[in-house]
Amino acid sequence: DFDVFDISEEFGFLLEEPLTHLPDYYQVWLDLANNLTHLIESRKLRDLVDKMPVLSPDLLSNHRELRLAHLALGFISMGYVWQEGQHAPILPKALALPFWLVSRRLGLPPILTYADSVLANWKLKDTTGNMDLIFSFPGGDTCRGFFIVSLLVEMAASPGIMVISDLTGIKNGLIKVTQSLKKMKENFKFMHNHVEPAAFHGKLRIFVSGWRDNPMLPRGVLYEGVSDEPILLSGGSAAQSSAIQCFDALLCIQHEEETAFLTRMRDYMPPAHRQLIETLSVCPPLRDFILSCSNSDLCQAYNSCVSALVDLRNYHLNTVTKYVIIPGNHAQSVGCPFRGVGTALNTTGTGGSNLMVFLKSVRDLDRAVEGDIY
Ligand code: HEM
Ligand code: ALA
Repeated sequence: DFDVFDISEEFGFLLEEPLTHLPDYYQVWLDLANNLTHLIESRKLRDLVDKMPVLSPDLLSNHRELRLAHLALGFISMGYVWQEGQHAPILPKALALPFWLVSRRLGLPPILTYADSVLANWKLKDTTGNMDLIFSFPGGDTCRGFFIVSLLVEMAASPGIMVISDLTGIKNGLIKVTQSLKKMKENFKFMHNHVEPAAFHGKLRIFVSGWRDNPMLPRGVLYEGVSDEPILLSGGSAAQSSAIQCFDALLCIQHEEETAFLTRMRDYMPPAHRQLIETLSVCPPLRDFILSCSNSDLCQAYNSCVSALVDLRNYHLNTVTKYVIIPGNHAQSVGCPFRGVGTALNTTGTGGSNLMVFLKSVRDLDRAVEGDIY
């Protein structure tokens, strides 16, 4: 029964029909989050947050209200920490305490995650059914494009995720997963029409960054009213997408050295989604089953699936070169490191990995199992 994993046929891991309003008591949070771009650019956000009352999250009564509160507090926190590209290593109590309490109820960490900025940050724009963001960072259309295209990639995974539940037709299941992976790549291509490398790298990216494995905030951020010690938390990254990790688990692709980072990213996923990956990982391995069948159609279906995954990861690597490596080198060569951020983020992903080394070794492990079943 797939209900326990909190996923749906049409939307996969996306939150279905996210709310855009909270009880009136929380209006101050939504006012800040709704105007975030303007408040960051006019440098007013920190002052307004410093004047904010400490609200109790007790009036939030259901999952979707909690998700909207987490999303709003996450956006405000990132804006607060990174406004003007300078970091504020302390989150004031009015932000830290409710964020902490809401996070605890959801089983999510108190930082903006992929489950917030992508899975829960959408609404229907108009009657055409186009999707729009609920909250935005600086970067204009690039910000919108980045999160919406990520959402389309994620949605394309959903048929593949659903058939994982029904391995009665393993071969058909594998074919569906392959189709999902191909569709994810097709949707990924929209990134190039909507996301501009200089704006992505120079404006948006810092607001997705966290405070773990980040030389700009080596000791983390102090959450006032929550703990006396600073806390280390990774920034948002599609490395927190449950979809790809589910497919890896299904295909029994073990990313050994990389496991530590990818496994840690599971702590940033909604618990029900994390549970699906964990359930798949302890199932009897599909690969062994297929090997034991010696059925060439089945082997071929498995191999095609792995190839589609390699292809998606190669496409992703090229995208990272275009949006991170090239603009990073350029910013460095013209001696204008973005707002004092310097080159710290050129080799580090927003999730904190040593990005190129990490991404290539993950891809190489897919390659190692590609075509070795027959
Ligand atoms: C990981 C960059 C879009 C899926 C990463 C990492 C970086 C990165 C730097 C390393 C982890 C970290 O430290 O953050 C980008 C850029 C994108 C983009 C620049 C677009 C401009 C996407 C999209 C997806 C995706 C749309 C689809 C869901 C992944 C996955 C990982 C990852 C699954 C974990 C590594 C793996 O399993 O191969 N990305 N990403 N990325 N990204 Fe992206
Ligand atoms: N994880 C992506 C990056 O590092 C967003 O740029």
